[in-house]
Amino acid sequence: MGSSILSIIYLIGSVTFILGLKMLSKPDTARKGNLVAAAGMSLAILGTIFLYRVNDAPLHNYGWIFAGLAIGGVIGVLSAKKVKMTAMPEMVSMFNGMGGACAALISIVEFDHIIKLIKNLYAPVTDDHLVLQLLETTASRGIVVIILLSLIIGAVSCAGSIIAWGKLTGKVKDFSFGGQHFLNLGVLALLIGLSVWLTVIFPTAPATGSIIFYVIFLLALFYGVLFVLPIGGADMPVVISLLNSFTGVAAACGGFLYSNPVMLTGGILVGSAGTILTILMCKAMNRSLKNVLIGSFGGGATGAAAAGKEQGSYKEISLNDAAVVLAYANKVIIVPGYGLAVAQAQHACHELEKQLEDKGVEVKYAIHPVAGRMPGHMNVLLAEADVPYEKLLEMEDANAEFPTTDAVLILGANDVVNPAAKNDPASPIYGMPILEVENAKVVIVNKRSMKPGYAGIENDLFFQPKTSMLFGDAKKVLQDLLGAIKEV
Ligand code: TAP
Repeated sequence: MGSSILSIIYLIGSVTFILGLKMLSKPDTARKGNLVAAAGMSLAILGTIFLYRVNDAPLHNYGWIFAGLAIGGVIGVLSAKKVKMTAMPEMVSMFNGMGGACAALISIVEFDHIIKLIKNLYAPVTDDHLVLQLLETTASRGIVVIILLSLIIGAVSCAGSIIAWGKLTGKVKDFSFGGQHFLNLGVLALLIGLSVWLTVIFPTAPATGSIIFYVIFLLALFYGVLFVLPIGGADMPVVISLLNSFTGVAAACGGFLYSNPVMLTGGILVGSAGTILTILMCKAMNRSLKNVLIGSFGGGATGAAAAGKEQGSYKEISLNDAAVVLAYANKVIIVPGYGLAVAQAQHACHELEKQLEDKGVEVKYAIHPVAGRMPGHMNVLLAEADVPYEKLLEMEDANAEFPTTDAVLILGANDVVNPAAKNDPASPIYGMPILEVENAKVVIVNKRSMKPGYAGIENDLFFQPKTSMLFGDAKKVLQDLLGAIKEV
């Protein structure tokens, strides 16, 4: 009876994961989707705790289980409540690392379990052939392969995610040396070789097998560190998404191991969603995954602008003039970027939008898919300030509207409006789709200086005749603009 109820609970859990993921794809249902999937996960966890049976007996270590749940739950809730929007990639990375660690720990526990079975249960049996036969019922080589996969992928994901977290918080610096990629390949080859060796000698040499197993674990941790260390800090969101998919695969291995459908479904969903997200992010930045993993981006400027090409001069606009341009426009499109998130100016931005609308101006937002530093960054940022979703234009729609727009107000965006992506084949962002703001009548750019953005390259847009620079911190500028527009 209990096991049938548990199967139904697992089925409900799996369905909620799929529904939740589907709902996450739209900003207006995303919050609900998160809650639906979390409810399914809670149900699956509680079902396992109270209904799972080991050799027909219920779980007995409730004290440990609930203490772990309470500590993890409190840390999770507090850190999620405290985290700043711009620090979200760091938090996702750390949580992902914990997922990888769980998968690796499960492998260690289960391998230890098998070794104990071999050593204790079958100790009197000396005939290897007989041992093998007996083990057919408890641990086939297939299980060892799954344990090893989960161990390696989980350990790589854990160590890699912690390094990614360190880079994003500035605690770990980019580090590379000549021949590092060869060392990485060597460690990977060693990992595969040792895993094959362990699978072949298993289960006849448990003592040697145990040593090899722990060497594999340490090597996998080392590989995770080596793999992420040389990647440019600014590329971390892509790497985190990739590591996230690794953790999903490791969790799916756990699902195989325990014949647990909800763990399997959850793992596969995380694995495939992480892979798709990684591919989409690379596509939106027009970079291959190989380029992200072994090229360093954002470190040095290249392209015509960086090659010392004369950029001409830029012109500044005063706050009052900017207020007049915006207040007398028929249609204004706001382009939010990373700087808006840094300045936490989303609420001031929404105020400006409402103020302009009160003056009869049509206001919309143009959202570039990789504006900011994480997928959906701008959508989440603007949603925080209650900007209605229907005001957000996707890139293609925004590009179609720029020619009929009187003024574009760029708030802390740089690369996503850089025309070099279209005009300069030598530019590192050449080929990346961009917001074609230069098709509007007037462009006002707010940033603090002429410094480049993420890609480390200059932006020709800032030097074009129809562009005016409005320097200052986005929040301060927006607050001042609100006052100035009131006077218009
Ligand atoms: P960026 O090109 O990084 O430019 C942001 C600009 O904001 C900077 O030039 C900076 O100039 C300005 N800024 C910083 N703080 C500011 C503040 N307090 N007030 C006003 N301005 C401020 O940003 P973007 O246009 O959003 O492009 C995103 C970039 O990140 C793309 O290259 C993309 O490929 C990359 N990326 C995105 C993702 C995802 S998934 N979103 C993942 C990885 C990489 P000043 O210093 O002069 O103020």
